[in-house]
Formats: sequence, structure tokens, C-alpha cells
Amino acid sequence: MRTHYCTNVDEKEIGKEITLSGWVNNSRDHGGVIFIDLRDKSGLIQLVCDPEDSVEAHKIAIGVRDEFVLTAQGKVRFRGEGLENPNMKTGKIELVVDKLIIENRSLPMPFDIGSDKVNEEIRLKNRFLELRDPKAYEIFKLRSKATMAIRNSLDKMDFLDVETPILTKSTPEGARDYLVPSRVHGGDFYALPQSPQLFKQLLMVSGFDKYYQIAKCFRDEDLRADRQPEFTQIDVELSFCNQEDVIKVAEKVLFDVFEACGHNIPTSFNRITHFEAMETYGSDKPDMRYDLAMVDVIDIFENCDNEIFSGIAKDSKNNRIKALTVPNGDNIFSKRQMKRFEEYVRKFGASGLGYFQMKEDGLKGPLTKFFTAEDLDRIVERCGLKVGDAVFFGAGHKKRVLDYMGRFRIHLAELMEIIPKNTFEFIWVVDFPMFEVEDGKVKALHHPFTKPKDLNVENLEDVESIAYDIVLNGTELGGGSIRIHKEEIQNKVFELMGIEKEEAREKFGFLLDALKYGAPPHGGFAMGLDRLIMLLTNSSSIREVIAFPKTQRAQCLLTSAPSGVDDEQLKELSIRIRKQQKV
Ligand code: AMO
Repeated sequence: MRTHYCTNVDEKEIGKEITLSGWVNNSRDHGGVIFIDLRDKSGLIQLVCDPEDSVEAHKIAIGVRDEFVLTAQGKVRFRGEGLENPNMKTGKIELVVDKLIIENRSLPMPFDIGSDKVNEEIRLKNRFLELRDPKAYEIFKLRSKATMAIRNSLDKMDFLDVETPILTKSTPEGARDYLVPSRVHGGDFYALPQSPQLFKQLLMVSGFDKYYQIAKCFRDEDLRADRQPEFTQIDVELSFCNQEDVIKVAEKVLFDVFEACGHNIPTSFNRITHFEAMETYGSDKPDMRYDLAMVDVIDIFENCDNEIFSGIAKDSKNNRIKALTVPNGDNIFSKRQMKRFEEYVRKFGASGLGYFQMKEDGLKGPLTKFFTAEDLDRIVERCGLKVGDAVFFGAGHKKRVLDYMGRFRIHLAELMEIIPKNTFEFIWVVDFPMFEVEDGKVKALHHPFTKPKDLNVENLEDVESIAYDIVLNGTELGGGSIRIHKEEIQNKVFELMGIEKEEAREKFGFLLDALKYGAPPHGGFAMGLDRLIMLLTNSSSIREVIAFPKTQRAQCLLTSAPSGVDDEQLKELSIRIRKQQKV
């Protein structure tokens, strides 16, 4: 059996007899001597099969192909002057093989391991081969280390790791449920948890006080680079706490996990209210690695000589006119580029994109004619404009303007390449609204178990909640809230959301009942473990940090899931397929 991993061999082993096992990374025949790069999880080492050392081993080496599995026994020696490979950890040494065993053969690879030119379909179909890349192994090594650091951190703070059910009832987190049919109760379904939200609250009613779980969650929603249908949360709940206490726990966990992965981050992070985040960055997950903040100029546009702008400016409650200053923008953007920016924001519902250029002799641009000299000066001052800067304006309905200007901010930062690499900028977004109203339907912005600050507000959209998100480099890493622990408030929230009493009982009766039996004040948070590892490893998608991920269409190409089942199974489950629907 092997005595070492490939790269754990060093100069100390010179002259010693050792045994290695691994895969053939590549092999070359140099004038009768065969060189094989052997790979295991630690990396590569060179094997030399010379007929002068062992005729037998050389004969076997002739038949070796890429990705064959070998065990090689032999003596370690220096490669010799001028033959070293500085790109390999073991580049100074090699193993002179005297015994070679082919443990297993391999078909030719469907792609070169480590190549970035292979399409995702082929890679995911053969994910177990893609994972042979030592770079992939490093990601999972870090993931394992990070998970351990999270467990240690929470364990030290006295949190108890408790598993909650996977076959359960729906927990509303804003996505569709994955359903599992029941055989015993034909026609009934379990739902896979979108999060352990309600169970962790019940554990607080049980008096467990501090709970955590590295929990699998399932959500049937549109997939993106940072979303998978099944993903993992670091899920935490504690009793008798306020927002400060919860935030402290989350900050400590993050500090510990980043430290374990070799990064020093602050022990606490800045905060911004949801309102400020939306108004300044047009996003509830602002990327704080760069500035590009928006300012409000609606009051200055009120008196301008353009009916469209002045009309918009009259309704400052529902409308916005936002200015986004780009330092040096006038010097770097051509007129054509300005047009392209306009096309960009139009894709997100903008009717146009105004701009000014700050020249030596004052503001210039197509809109200047609508303003008095005084108002132009106010714009210069409000936007902090310097010669060479450009400033862009978005005007229209509040929600739309904030959305497209927020997207434009990110687009500009990417285009201008001003986003610093290898830096971690955290921010807490606090004071989320409790509800959002869409097409007359009232929805909870976080979830309906979040504690509202005050429900006696005229407009439901003005109700604030004790909810907070932690954002890292513009990605929502996690979120949480203080929960409702009084049954009457929970009932009131359901009522405001248009959930009838019977429906509330049917769906959440167990929670409402639990709240009647001495539920303590409690709160918590959950962070996406996959997203955390994606950011820690600088990966472009969470698919890279999940061992067996699904595609954008929620398929596992490796196992061909989801797939049909036979009629017998369907019959047992009392299911008849009416018509196959492809979305
Ligand atoms: P929330 O829905 O914000 O909160 O989820 C918490 C975090 O989980 C991660 N996440 C996802 N990661 C990958 N793929 C997905 N489809 C996906 N959906 C969510 C994100 C997100 O910030 N029960 C509440 C938490 C609480 O209130 O305690 C909850 O689940 O990083």
C-alpha cells in the first residue's frame, strides 16, 4: 500500500524506497525511458520507468494511458542539474520505479481535466471527472474547513446543533415548494423545507435557547449564478435576544470562518437602512467595494423648463430623479458610449438617460438649456462635480428608477474596472419594510414570521420590520429577523396579508398553537453556505462549490434527475400523470 501522498515526498526521502498510488496525469516516452506524472489529491510527482532499472516496470509503463490508476514502488532521487521543474512542488525529485501495478484502466477522457474550454453540459455530465482537478479539490477542502470553523464558532457560543425534518410542510420563503407524494396517505404531499424557519422557532418555544444547523434547503425558483434548487444554509436561532445580539453572533461566525480560511476581516460591519440602500445604490444588496453613490435632484428639476422632467418632479413621493456622478466620466466616455448607456438602461424600463458633462466653463450637455444658471450651479454642488466628470440622470417612477440606476451603477463599475479584487466588503442592511404590495397583493418582504415594528401605520408599505440582511461584495449572504412571538400579532400579520383564518390554521396551525404556550422572544438568521464559499474562493458560480450541482434548468445531468418513474410506483402513490408539462 502507498506510503506517501505524491507531493508529501521531499528531499528527505532521497534514496528511500517508497510506494505511491494515483492517476496518470500524462506520460511521455523519451528515447526508451518513460516518464509519468502521477497525480493524487495532493498534486503531481514524476515517475521514471527505465528498462535499465526494471525491465518489468518499463514493460507495464508502455501500456499506461492517461487517467489509468497506478501503484508505483521505487527509490526517490534528485532529477539532476538542469532537469528540475520549478512549476511542480516536487520538481526537484522523481521516483525511479522498480515495481509498477496497473490498478485500473480508464477510457480516454471526454475532456482535459482542468481545461476551461469545455462546455458546462459535458462537465456536469462527468462531474466526478471534473472534480479530479486539484483546483476543485482545493475548493472542497476550503469548504470543509469553513464548515468546521462555523461549527466550532457556534459550539463555543453554546449553540446546539439540531436536525429538523426534510419531509415536512411548506415554509413560505418566497419560492415554490418541492413536493414529495405520500404512499401511506395517498393524495397527500410532504413539502421539502425552503428553510427550517418554523422548526427553529418551535425549538425556541421548547426552551433550547440557542440552535444552529448546517441545513439543506430546497426552493423551486428561477436559477441564477448564485442560486441552486437545493442549497445549504448556516441556520441560527436564539431566545431572549434583540437585533444587536443576533448581529453579534453572525459577525463572530463570519470573523471565525474568514480567519480559518486565512483572511482578516473586521469584527463588526457598517450598517445602512434599507431605505438608504435603495435611494443611494438602487439595491438592497449594495456592493460597497466602490463608491458611485446616487443623489436626489428631484427638487432642482421641479423648476426646469422641460415638462416631462418638471411633471415627474411634482410627485416626489412616487417618483425619483436620481443623479449618478462618474468621476472623470467625461474624459473616458465617448458620445457613442453615452448612447450605449441609454440603450442599457432602456432594457430595464428607462425611457431615457440624461447626462451632463463638467467642462472647464461649466456644465454642458443636451439638458442644460432647460435650467437656469443657478440651478445648474446647484447640480454641480449637489453632485460634487469636478472638471472632467460626467453625471447621469434617471427620472420616472421610484421603483423603476431605483432599479435601473442600481443596475447601471454595477454596469459602470464593471465597465470601468473599478471593482477591487481580493477584498471583502460587508454591510448590514437593516430596517427592511415588512410588506411589499404587488398588483394589490400583500407579500412579506422577508417572511411572515418577522416582527413588525409598528402595525398601526396608515400605508402597509410603510410598516418597518426588525429584519436585516448581511451583504458581501454585492451578494446577499444572509438574512434574518426578530420573530413574532405573540399569537395575536402573528394572526394580525396573516390577516393583513389576506390569509384567511382557516388557511392560516391549515398551514401554520402548529406554529399558532405553539405561540400560545409561553413562546419566548426570539430571533435569528440564516446565511447561504454555498454563497459564502463562492465568495471565499472567488468562484463565478455556486455550481463550482457544490459537489454535484444542478443546471440552470434544475437538472442533474450526471444522474439524469428528474426522471420518469414506472407506472407501478405511480399507482402506489395514487398519482396519475395528466399531461406532461415543460416549463
Ligand atoms: P433567506 O430566504 O434570506 O432567509 O435565505 C438565507 C440565505 O440563504 C441563501 N439562499 C440561497 N442560496 C443558494 N440558492 C438559493 N436558491 C438560495 N436561497 C437562499 C442566501 C440567503 O441570504 N429563514 C430565513 C432566515 C431567517 O429569517 O432566519 C431564510 O431562509 O444566501
